[in-house]
Amino acid sequence: MKSREDLKRLREEAKGLVSARGPEGMTKIIVGMGTCGIAAGAREVMAAILEELNKRNIQATVTQTGCIGMCEKEPLVDVQRPGEKRITYGKVKPSDVPRIITGHVLHGNIVEDLVVARFEEI
Ligand code: FES
Repeated sequence: MKSREDLKRLREEAKGLVSARGPEGMTKIIVGMGTCGIAAGAREVMAAILEELNKRNIQATVTQTGCIGMCEKEPLVDVQRPGEKRITYGKVKPSDVPRIITGHVLHGNIVEDLVVARFEEI
């Protein structure tokens, strides 16, 4: 991805996927897009997530957040499947995204080697 415009375009494309069902009952994916996240490559990771979801026609709610307080682990990506724990992945590279999307989002298999936090909240 080259620019903010590319990201905007990808997000617009992803909206079609997101709007088909209400946000309840859908997997949530949250990307840390604070300054440190962007510096660490969060834009590229976000683009890779949207592309992978599009490619596989997977529906998920994709949002971004600012500072999460774990700079050294950026880029950070949270995944929460309905009724399951929220998992935070750290130091995510675009090349890790297919594993997260097909492994965790699609099949519920947590990508253990990338996990930096788990939240009990459901
Ligand atoms: S400034 Fe990096 S996580 Fe807050």
